[in-house]
Amino acid sequence: MKQIQMQDTYIKKIKNMQKNKKYSILTMGCQLNENDSERISGILEEAGYEKTEDLSCANIIVFNTCCVRENAEDRLFGKLGEVKKYKEKNGCIIAIGGCMMQEKHMQRKIKESYQFVDIIFGPHTLKNFPEDLYKSIIENKKIEDILDIDGEIIEGIPTVREDKIKASVTIMNGCNNFCTYCIVPYVRGRERSRHPQDIYNEVVNLAKQGYKEITLLGQNVNSYLVSEKSKGEDVNFIVKEENGNEYEVNSFATLLRLINKIKGIERIRFISPHPKDFTDDVIDSIRDSKKVCKLIHLPLQSGSTEILKSMNRKYTKEEYLNLVKKIKSKIPEVEFSTDIIVGFPGETEKDFEDTLDVVSKVKYEQIYMFIYSRRVGTKADKMENQIDEDIKHERFERLKKLAENIIEEKNKTYVGKEELVLVEGKSKTNKQMYTGRTQTNKVVNFEGGSKQMIGKVLPMKIISEHMWYLKGKIC
Ligand code: 5AD
Ligand code: SF4
Repeated sequence: MKQIQMQDTYIKKIKNMQKNKKYSILTMGCQLNENDSERISGILEEAGYEKTEDLSCANIIVFNTCCVRENAEDRLFGKLGEVKKYKEKNGCIIAIGGCMMQEKHMQRKIKESYQFVDIIFGPHTLKNFPEDLYKSIIENKKIEDILDIDGEIIEGIPTVREDKIKASVTIMNGCNNFCTYCIVPYVRGRERSRHPQDIYNEVVNLAKQGYKEITLLGQNVNSYLVSEKSKGEDVNFIVKEENGNEYEVNSFATLLRLINKIKGIERIRFISPHPKDFTDDVIDSIRDSKKVCKLIHLPLQSGSTEILKSMNRKYTKEEYLNLVKKIKSKIPEVEFSTDIIVGFPGETEKDFEDTLDVVSKVKYEQIYMFIYSRRVGTKADKMENQIDEDIKHERFERLKKLAENIIEEKNKTYVGKEELVLVEGKSKTNKQMYTGRTQTNKVVNFEGGSKQMIGKVLPMKIISEHMWYLKGKIC
């Protein structure tokens, strides 16, 4: 609390110091990263800055970086070249935050080759951003604010959300799993869960502001409170509800049940769970909680038991398929989405075919496909059997083709059915149409929409299917 009050004083000082200032923020990562960007925006807007998409007229440009895959690095360095010109022209402040700044070799690269950067900070020091910015403005000196240890979760940072219907709420930070390809445990630290009362209060507030869909975020949401439990902490938290009732939360399953009770919220999603922690109580909670969407994101990564072992995923191909079967038996209408990496070190043609086999069996609604990217400091980076780039790309294309065939096939099954669609607003691609999503996250475009419908869940008949959207008719 004290820390936040101190930061508040810096926010006020910045606000009093300058008028008509503008900021731009470039977010380069996952939804957790986007959630951090909403906090950076919150801080800057409280300090009197106004958002602009035009980098050339911003007084401060913030990069919120990611380091999960190499392409995020390429994007950052490309953009830094562009903003250097603005810095030379109007002296704007350049700040770089996010996971990439936790990597020592990246800190070094920025300091040596991009000396015009004013502030570097990490996800653990985001809370100090007002102080860092103030010092950069007043003292005109380079600020480096990176913490190697796991930052504690700080409540009360102001947040500005772009969307008015859907909001993300972080429930935990960090990861204990150390999948051998992944840099996240090194940059985000160990798992730490937020207090359920803080999560509850945040969602209640969002509901009061008119938000309808909540996505609970974490690197490993279904081990919510598990790390605390294993350290012997008492995790039987009593949450005070709006109506004065008390509800005990001691796991992800109980948290889901609590959030499901919040009035005004229509849909609840969560990303990402880990298959190894998908316990029966979580499945039962999803089944029993009406608002929890029956689309489960269940990262596969690879369909080969050998590769899964080498990835340190802690499940086999059969265990994954059995889990899918179990979930389907308890929740017959359930659909799945997933993450898959192709070209992990040592992946043979047979291993890749196992991945295709799982994809054909599960018939995912959505697949996020990634070409394996070497990350300095991870175990997989040191493996000698790296896969040739051409083979990686060829496998990626084959997987993409299969995924598209399945999506097309599944889209057809929607035609003629009635679906509940949460209306989000006007379609970005066709201004005559409004757009929304089914609870399985399919985009539905429809005619005859109006402003009053935004935020409402409306029944629609699906009249046609297209690769990336369905067309609906209001019932
Ligand atoms: N290379 C490619 N994809 C990766 N992911 C994580 N690390 C890597 C990597 N080194 C993918 C995983 C994860 C998603 C968020 O990013 O599929 O689930
Ligand atoms: Fe990375 Fe694995 Fe943790 Fe996900 S579970 S953040 S892939 S280490």
